[in-house]
Amino acid sequence: MTDLLYVDGGNPLRGEITVRGAKNFVSKAMVAALLGETPSLLRNVPEIRDVAVVTGLLELHGVRVDADPGAGTLHLDPSAVESAHVADIDTHAGASRIPILFCGPLLHRLGEAFIPDLGGCRIGDRPINYHLDILRQFGAEVDKTPTGIYLRAPRGLQGTKIALPYPSVGATEQLLLTAVRAEGITELSGAAIEPEIMDLVNVLQKMGAIISVDTDRVIRIEGVDRLDGYQHTALADRVEAASWGSAALATGGDVFVRGATQPEMTTFLNTFRKVGGEFVVQDEGIRFFHPGGDLHSIQLETDVHPGFMTDWQQPLVVALTQARGLSIVHETVYENRFGFVDALIGMGATIQVYKECLGGRPCRFGQRNFYHSAVISGPTPLSAADIEVPDLRGGFSHLIAALAAKGTSAVRGISLIDRGYEHFTEKLEALGAEFSREAVRD
Ligand code: EPU
Repeated sequence: MTDLLYVDGGNPLRGEITVRGAKNFVSKAMVAALLGETPSLLRNVPEIRDVAVVTGLLELHGVRVDADPGAGTLHLDPSAVESAHVADIDTHAGASRIPILFCGPLLHRLGEAFIPDLGGCRIGDRPINYHLDILRQFGAEVDKTPTGIYLRAPRGLQGTKIALPYPSVGATEQLLLTAVRAEGITELSGAAIEPEIMDLVNVLQKMGAIISVDTDRVIRIEGVDRLDGYQHTALADRVEAASWGSAALATGGDVFVRGATQPEMTTFLNTFRKVGGEFVVQDEGIRFFHPGGDLHSIQLETDVHPGFMTDWQQPLVVALTQARGLSIVHETVYENRFGFVDALIGMGATIQVYKECLGGRPCRFGQRNFYHSAVISGPTPLSAADIEVPDLRGGFSHLIAALAAKGTSAVRGISLIDRGYEHFTEKLEALGAEFSREAVRD
């Protein structure tokens, strides 16, 4: 089945929507519950497919999960954790990369773990070498097979000293989830310090972990013998909030994003202002709007926190097609995150992608045949088209383009967006978008 959305674009989005907890935190906090001897309670949980996937995996391992989607709560009881069957794990892993983070907690609880071939958005190679190196350094035995990876820790896991070659979000989380129960002290240098990771540190500290984070990207963890459950309210989804902000800008609209918070979005808000968008930060959320007149071209480079997030890049590029002049965007986190611009070009945008590191400092993808810089020339009116959603963020960008374009666009494969954008068609309705959704057979 492929989901299809017919979008009648060309109208500004206006109104109010709510964002709840961050997809890229909630899934990790759910895994952390595996480490507790007592149940956990997570609040502000969005109803998205990634949460359903992790719920399925936890249940397979004997964790009892009671969800109240309306209230946004998850009760997670890990008291009966057990080993799951390989085939079942494979079926449940779906398109997610989260299973790799089960390794540390399962090795502590069961002495073994199995990780299927991983999914996730196709936005580059997305290797897991950092994860496996980390697990090996803790003392895990790693055995790669055609169906996945078996891990064992017959002698338990021991604290270690690790330097990451790149501040990977997932690898830093892998280390945290493993080190908290390992024997002795672990030190990680070159750590990622995204707000979602800091909230995971909050959760682990509530459970009984001892973790310090220095200003120089060094994280130190003193392993403990026992962790308990936690009660925690997830931080807001700053990618979803920025996506709706970008949609407001690209369509010339005005959207109040209830639940959006300023501290995690400082870099996005600075950029939004430079492009010519306006925003008002309130206690309950952030209002994003197009003040009228021309938008301005900018030079932008994605980076790890506190830089401009790679996940903000794709939605904002659509708004940049409406800015006057030449914008330059240099993607330094993923080598292959500009595939989505082909559809925008088909809708009338003028975008050229380059292998060179344009407009900023050289990154690790320069001279390596990756089209990781883009030059966007605007403003160009967008016209309706037939589009296929490539990945989560690229898909939302296509949706924004369809909303900005005059005429009726057909956006196919729209269910990919459900992975990370809660109830997005209801939100589109609340913002006055004109569209109809239908499921068709391939
Ligand atoms: N990398 C390696 N080896 C590894 C791990 C990563 O070379 O073992 C490379 C990646 O190929 C990439 C870079 O390091 O070029 C950064 O990857 P990172 O590990 O930081 O990303 P991730 O943990 O796989 C999370 C989010 C992504 C988000 C990135 C960067 C989750 C589930 N995913 O991915 O979110 O883009 O951090 O902030 O937390 C999304 O939400 O659409 C999304 C893709």
